[in-house]
Amino acid sequence: MVEITIAVDGPGSSGKGTVARGVAEALGYQFVDTGAMYRAVGLLSLRSGLDVRDEGATSLLAQRLQFRFAFDGGRLRVEVDGEDVTSAIRGEDVGAAASAVAVHPAVRGALLGLQRYLGAAGGVVMDGRDIGTVVLPDAELKIFLDASLEERARRRWLEHPERDFVAVRDELAARDLQDTTRAVAPLRCAADAVRLDSTGVPVSDVVDRIVQLARSRRGG
Ligand code: DC
Repeated sequence: MVEITIAVDGPGSSGKGTVARGVAEALGYQFVDTGAMYRAVGLLSLRSGLDVRDEGATSLLAQRLQFRFAFDGGRLRVEVDGEDVTSAIRGEDVGAAASAVAVHPAVRGALLGLQRYLGAAGGVVMDGRDIGTVVLPDAELKIFLDASLEERARRRWLEHPERDFVAVRDELAARDLQDTTRAVAPLRCAADAVRLDSTGVPVSDVVDRIVQLARSRRGG
């Protein structure tokens, strides 16, 4: 059986990560979370007191980070320079820093080689914002997963119920704007991607649909 490459792109809290992981598990493929790489650069920039608008400093940091991804009881563990940052990279401030450093072409360039290397062998589900358009333009299956802003905000708020819902929604809208309007590799649906809307659709249904598409593309 041919092992294909699957690109999953979409805005924040569209369910990409959960869906991509589910598809990878169902097919026995590797899951690569490229957002985690940008988040790691964001986290380390904040910790080192770097200005996230400083392209030179943040890209130097991105170039020297050593990433390691490991599966730990079904959960993806992200290590940077030997430290487990799986939980630390999920904070809201880190998400904002990730989106800010991701506008810099030099930061994107520093991560691109690793992303392409991880996708090259096939048998991979890679999720992000520019996977189908820039990182793996030849991926056999491209999915653009979307959901309404209200639904995505509700999902994110459920992860941080102590926060104000409207503030969570506004941050998400600001992040969308930054990700879709940046000059390099903006979030957009590739011309040959299958667009799926997960508003009101259970994760398992979205996973099943993508697995079906993958099976038909690899011929069985
Ligand atoms: O998917 P996420 O929320 O973990 O991504 C965090 C940020 O990283 C997001 O705001 C945009 C950026 N990102 C990117 O620019 N390109 C990618 N392939 C993945 C993430």
